[in-house]
Amino acid sequence: MKQRIQGRRATPDPAAAAAVLKRKTRQRPVLGLVLGSGFGATAQALDNVESLPYAALPGFPRPSVSGHAGKLMLGQLAETPVLVLSGRAHYYEGHTLDEVTFAMRVLAAFGVTDVLLTNAAGGVNARFRPGDFMLLRDHINFMGVNPLRGPAPPGRPRFVDLTQTYDASLSDLLRRAARAARLRLREGVYLAVSGPTYETPAEVRAFARWGADAVGMSTVPEAIVARQCGLRVAGVSCITNLAAGRSPQPLSHAEVLVIAERGAQRAVALLKNFARLYGKK
Ligand code: HPA
Repeated sequence: MKQRIQGRRATPDPAAAAAVLKRKTRQRPVLGLVLGSGFGATAQALDNVESLPYAALPGFPRPSVSGHAGKLMLGQLAETPVLVLSGRAHYYEGHTLDEVTFAMRVLAAFGVTDVLLTNAAGGVNARFRPGDFMLLRDHINFMGVNPLRGPAPPGRPRFVDLTQTYDASLSDLLRRAARAARLRLREGVYLAVSGPTYETPAEVRAFARWGADAVGMSTVPEAIVARQCGLRVAGVSCITNLAAGRSPQPLSHAEVLVIAERGAQRAVALLKNFARLYGKK
C-alpha cells in the first residue's frame, strides 16, 4: 500500500515491506547490522543464511556503489540471530533521504530493536591512522538535509531527542568486542557530508575545530530515523584514509576500498564478537 503525503512523492509503506519479509522467512532476529565499506565480508561469516535482493522488497532503493552488494540477509553470526543489510543506498547517488533511510523503518516494523551501523570514513583526528576503527560517540549532521523533514509518520515523534543517539550499552559491547579481538577501538564524533566529493583541506580543518574525528557520507540519516523509530543504535567506522589535507596524497575511492579490504578480517572479528556478546546479554 502506498501512502500519499501531501506535497511529497508517494512513499512506500515500511509495514508492507516488513510483511513481505515476514512471509519470506521464519527468522525473527532483533539485532540488525548495516554493512558499509570495510565491513562487507561479515556477510560471508553468517550461518544458516537466507538472503533476499533489495529488489524483492517493495520500496527498497538499489545501491550502485562498487563494494556495496544490495541484499538483505538473515542468519546467525557467532550463534546470534541477525538481520544484515549488505550494502546501503547513499544520498550522493541521488536517492532521497526517505529512500536512504527506508530500511530502518522496515527493520523497526519487522521487530528489530537494535542496529549497528558501520561505514568507511576519513580520519579528521590527527592521531587516527588508516585501518583504525572508531566507535561513534556522537555525530554532526553536515549533510544540509534532515531525514525527518516533512510530516512525521503516524505514531512517530515529530521532534526527536538526539542527546544520546548512540546507545551506551551497545557501545560498551563494541568496546568489549574490540578488546576480545585485540583491536584498538578509537572513539569519536562522526561528521556526515552529502558527498560525493571528498572534502577540501579547509573543510577538514574546520570540521576538526567543530569537534569531528572522522568524516563520511552515510550513517547519520539512518541513525536519526532509527532513533525516531525507537531503535537502539550503535555505530562504528573503519578509518580508510586520512581526510583531505591530512596526508600529502590525493584521495581516491580505490584507496578507500584497498584499506577497507585490508581491514576486512579484523572488521569481521569485531562484528562477530559484538554479535556473540549481544547474544549473551
Ligand atoms: N571523506 C568522506 N567520506 C569518506 C572518506 C573521506 O575522507 N573516506 C571514506 N569515506
